[in-house]
Amino acid sequence: MRIVPVSLGSRSYLIKVGSGLLSQLGRECAALKLGQRCAVITDANVGKKFARAALKSLAASGFEPALVTVPAGEKSKRFAVVEKCHDELAAHRLERKSFIVALGGGVVGDLAGFVAATYLRGIPFVQVPTTLLAQVDSSVGGKTGVNLRAGKNLVGAFYQPRVVLCDLDTLKTLPKREYISGLAEVIKYGVIYDAVLFAQLERNLPKLLQREVPTLRAVVARCCEIKADVVGQDETESGLRAILNFGHTIGHAIENSSGYGKFLHGEAIAIGQVAAAKLSHQILGLPAGDAARIEKLFVQAGLPVKIKLGVAQRQKLFAALRLDKKVSGGEITFVLAKKIGKVAWGRKVSADLINRVLGPL
Ligand SMILES: NC(=O)c1ccc[n+]([C@@H]2O[C@H](COP(=O)([O-])OP(=O)(O)OC[C@H]3O[C@@H](n4cnc5c(N)ncnc54)[C@H](O)[C@@H]3O)[C@@H](O)[C@H]2O)c1
Ligand SMILES: [Zn+2]
Repeated sequence: MRIVPVSLGSRSYLIKVGSGLLSQLGRECAALKLGQRCAVITDANVGKKFARAALKSLAASGFEPALVTVPAGEKSKRFAVVEKCHDELAAHRLERKSFIVALGGGVVGDLAGFVAATYLRGIPFVQVPTTLLAQVDSSVGGKTGVNLRAGKNLVGAFYQPRVVLCDLDTLKTLPKREYISGLAEVIKYGVIYDAVLFAQLERNLPKLLQREVPTLRAVVARCCEIKADVVGQDETESGLRAILNFGHTIGHAIENSSGYGKFLHGEAIAIGQVAAAKLSHQILGLPAGDAARIEKLFVQAGLPVKIKLGVAQRQKLFAALRLDKKVSGGEITFVLAKKIGKVAWGRKVSADLINRVLGPL
């Protein structure tokens, strides 16, 4: 097992990365001296596979767990579902000392974290992320929240878990497309922060694609370390945390303008990162060799690196770019790479140049 500390003063916690951790859930919660009554919030897919093991482990350590299952998918990140969860917690008489276990991907983590942050003005929660994206990204850093009709993640709270258990065995049942999509965030950490990690990914990609546990343990732990390091320096996103958005300016615009669901998040940010690497070459002098290595790694991982857009679709994409949170004073800003492992944020880029790197019509 690898242990990654997240240092946030009194809100510090550990991320544990390894095999067989789900069966340790009860023991981990007992070590944290959490209250007896608790609720496991999960979605229908994950619940089918892992709820029984989670409940069994909690019960074996003397806890009284209730199970709250929400429908799988992004549509569960909304207020109606938050309210349903709150009602179920109240029905099970969860109190101040009770706690919540978020068992699932980023959707469950964001939802259950927000439910925990708001029920009785906040009760403890534990993350058991079961997607690659959730293990390396959404379960680290304390962002919780739900969507509004007006947009994604518009309501939420910064609320840190008490422990995060990344059980690598749970990734075995993840659909291939979801798993590969998570690799896009993994590669991102190499580009923005760690040239050594990037080179390891180039070397070990076949093992990673096989979901080999020793390789996953090292890679997931390193990604968590990087995110923890960034978040530790900038918990509430006033500066450095922006680097985590490498590839996300264009990535989010692709998700928005193509209708959610066409591209998975990782697929959209793979295209976004390759475009950002090209912009980086033009603007910051990212060596052409580095830009080529970035593109090659995404291709080898099985991720898309280009998007073919007609005139109307391109206009939609630019409209989405201008609406994005990353627009300041009317200009579109990017995180750009100086070299693999080093980026700068808040770089303004003209629409003309973006158009050029997206390729000919
Ligand atoms: N809080 C943050 O900092 C942060 C960061 C990035 C993304 N997010 C959020 O994360 C969400 C996306 O998360 P996601 O990609 O994990 O999606 P997800 O939670 O919807 O999971 C993807 C699919 O895989 C299924 N699944 C999950 N684990 C499984 C397993 N082990 N075996 C089989 N099936 C499994 C789920 O039921 C779902 O159908 C978005 O809502 C996004 O906004 C949050
Ligand atoms: Zn992302």
